[in-house]
Amino acid sequence: MEIKDRTKNILAISAFVVILATLVFVIIQNRSQANTISSLQEELNYFAAENASSSRNFRTEREIASSTIAELAERLSMTAEELEDVERDLRHEEDKNEDFEDQIKAISGTVGILDKLSKTDEELLQKYSRTYFLNENFVPMKLSKIETKYILPGRQEQYFHGDAIDFLNDMLDDAENDGMDLKVLSAYRSFDEQQSLKGQYTQVYGSGANAFSADQGYSEHQLGTTVDISDQVTGGAYTSFAQTEEYKWLLENAHKYGFILSYPEDNGFYVFEPWHWRFVGIDLASDLRRENADFYTWDQRTIDEYLVKIFD
Ligand code: DAL
Ligand code: ZN
Repeated sequence: MEIKDRTKNILAISAFVVILATLVFVIIQNRSQANTISSLQEELNYFAAENASSSRNFRTEREIASSTIAELAERLSMTAEELEDVERDLRHEEDKNEDFEDQIKAISGTVGILDKLSKTDEELLQKYSRTYFLNENFVPMKLSKIETKYILPGRQEQYFHGDAIDFLNDMLDDAENDGMDLKVLSAYRSFDEQQSLKGQYTQVYGSGANAFSADQGYSEHQLGTTVDISDQVTGGAYTSFAQTEEYKWLLENAHKYGFILSYPEDNGFYVFEPWHWRFVGIDLASDLRRENADFYTWDQRTIDEYLVKIFD
């Protein structure tokens, strides 16, 4: 019995100890969990606060960025407008410069024309056959001696306008290269020489000389830009020259060197003179040929426009 009671007591005490221990364990366990929860709660609170702060910061930064962008956009649009203004001003200045350049060109063009004209005998494209008159003092600005090889043998030395002589030489050289035999009979004749020549013809032919010889002051030969040319077989200023290959060559080619036939058949001034060629410049000679026109049938005002480029 005593043993039984003791055993019971021991069992009761053991059970109590176990229960107590379990209780203590549970309490400790609860405490620990409570701490963990509390700690988690704190961390949660911390993160929530952080998040709120970040979110606030993010909003602020976005607002600042937006306003900066708006400001930049405004400044950019102002700059674009200013740029347009500057471009407009620049274009305006460029236009003004172009106008100015055009004016300068026009002025220098005019100066060039005036300079050219001041160095060109204004008489060179006038119609001197009976109508216009060159006085005894008129002598071309420049006269050059024609090389002997171009002169018909036996004739005296001849002179031609210094600015036109290269055209004459080129024509005679090219004619020779084409197998033509062309020589100069007569070129520049002064007022006095023409007077003397006309006097000789008049002595022989009387008033009939007026059909083929100009009075002094009315001859194109005084200009220095006119030549009488013939082949050596014909040998002189004869109408039969018109039957030669040389004359046909001149009809085909003389305009390329600036020469025209002053007195073709049925002209209103003199007999047909196939030997008498006048330099009027390549432009005028070519235009006359293209129009199938004669120098003396064109209006003087039209002809005058060619004076500035007569030696071009
Ligand atoms: N034979 C031409 C017309 C002159 O004498 O000028
Ligand atoms: Zn002549």
